[in-house]
Amino acid sequence: MTDTNTNRVLIFDTTMRDGEQSPGASMNLEEKLRLAEVLEEMGVDVIEAGFPIASNGDFEAVNEIAKVVKGSVVCGLARAALKDIDRAAEALKPAERMRIHTFLSTSPLHMKYKLQMEPEAVHDAVVDSVTHARTFTDDVEWSPEDGTRTEHDFLCRCVESAIKAGATTINIPDTVGYAIPEEFGALIRMLFDRVPNIDKARISTHCHNDLGLAVANSLAGVANGARQVECTINGLGERAGNAALEEIVMALRTRNDLMPYGTGIDTENITKASRLVANITGFTVQPNKAIVGANAFAHEAGIHQDGVLKHAGTYEIMTPESVGLNKSNLVMGKHSGRHAFREKLRELGFELGDNALNDAFRRFKDLADKKKDVFDEDIVALVDDELRADDRIKFVSLYVVAGSKGPQTAELELDIDGEVHATKSTGDGPVDATFNAIKELVPHEAKLQLYQVHAVTEGTDAQAEVTVRLEESGKTVNGQGADTDTLVASARAYVNALNKLMVKREKTALEALSA
Ligand code: KIV
Ligand code: ZN
Repeated sequence: MTDTNTNRVLIFDTTMRDGEQSPGASMNLEEKLRLAEVLEEMGVDVIEAGFPIASNGDFEAVNEIAKVVKGSVVCGLARAALKDIDRAAEALKPAERMRIHTFLSTSPLHMKYKLQMEPEAVHDAVVDSVTHARTFTDDVEWSPEDGTRTEHDFLCRCVESAIKAGATTINIPDTVGYAIPEEFGALIRMLFDRVPNIDKARISTHCHNDLGLAVANSLAGVANGARQVECTINGLGERAGNAALEEIVMALRTRNDLMPYGTGIDTENITKASRLVANITGFTVQPNKAIVGANAFAHEAGIHQDGVLKHAGTYEIMTPESVGLNKSNLVMGKHSGRHAFREKLRELGFELGDNALNDAFRRFKDLADKKKDVFDEDIVALVDDELRADDRIKFVSLYVVAGSKGPQTAELELDIDGEVHATKSTGDGPVDATFNAIKELVPHEAKLQLYQVHAVTEGTDAQAEVTVRLEESGKTVNGQGADTDTLVASARAYVNALNKLMVKREKTALEALSA
């Protein structure tokens, strides 16, 4: 079953499951659906859409993604418990191709302290869980959590039994990011050497990045026979994150001379996926991050610029175009009509209803009046804002007095459940004044965890894109807002976060009622 002699490596994206487990990186249903669409378009083989037993929200996300995704296998995670597996199977039912991914810790440390189970009981649970999962689908993945710190004899025994019970993929997690490449590669090789039925399964890697080695470990796994890599966009994930999808895919592509393995990824979608994940989660990408950082293809030093102008290959080992990084497209100016605007939206992947289209077009005209050049990124930021028709709180207007003399004051109007409310507030600076005004109109206890501004494009007339993260009772939400005025963008982002918080509160209340 393992086609180590075919050199195709499956890409298993777990941005919406392991990535989302990273504190503060929560995504709502609409955001997950958008990401799933981008991952599918990109050619991701398996999308791990969530952990259905974890919450009703996770169940719903997996279920909705299972309904719409056709090009990728949709996967749901389950512990080694029958009720977990049943819930995953139920969520995945609508999928054209589904996978159940079940896992159990196998390291001495995890078995003794976390599971408080004897190895024999763990082994039996592996067999029972895989057997049960196979009653729903013939695509079952099993993972020995903390696999890299598991005793080899026990690991081989569990892997062999999992395959015998019907697992078609065996995934080896370096759960705590402890392994080094040579060691991880040798572990994968050891499984091929010692597990008699290993050829009946595909071997996968799942590496965390605590020592910054997740990508190197994954590639060592591939070099030793693994033919699936689990990874996330931008390396999102708990603690230091998971192996970054874009780095693995581009390393395999760029160094195909030494690593003759292929993926099915259309690499030109990488930048789009990276920006979407950064935007949704508020986890911005560091400028010097490989492949997707803002400086990844920038050449500052004169000597480098000179070289690149003479021959791009002097300092560029891959082209910006290969990861979908084109020069920003100049879209339209203030004379562009509604029809052209609708066409542009279609090209960017947005299909808006008439009302949303009218509102977006009005904001586009306002933007074109203020800003000399309007780029694709501007339109995306603006439409992201506009796709919030169901929000209970809507931004109406903001007037701010700022500067060194103080007091900084914000006059704000919000539409709350269809009625416009106004207030005036002061604060320690214009942002504080604006947020205080919002708090007066929408009293709440949520704590501001993150306030982040970045320019959508270049220039002083660029739109600001603001991310606000709020936390309430251990739950976090990220809100986004864009405008050429940073304070208006800030107010929009805060309002967006409050709307998400309200949806989350309602869902939590419903979950409590149905529990
Ligand atoms: O890191 C890990 O061990 C995991 C498993 C659930 C595969 O995420
Ligand atoms: Zn993990």
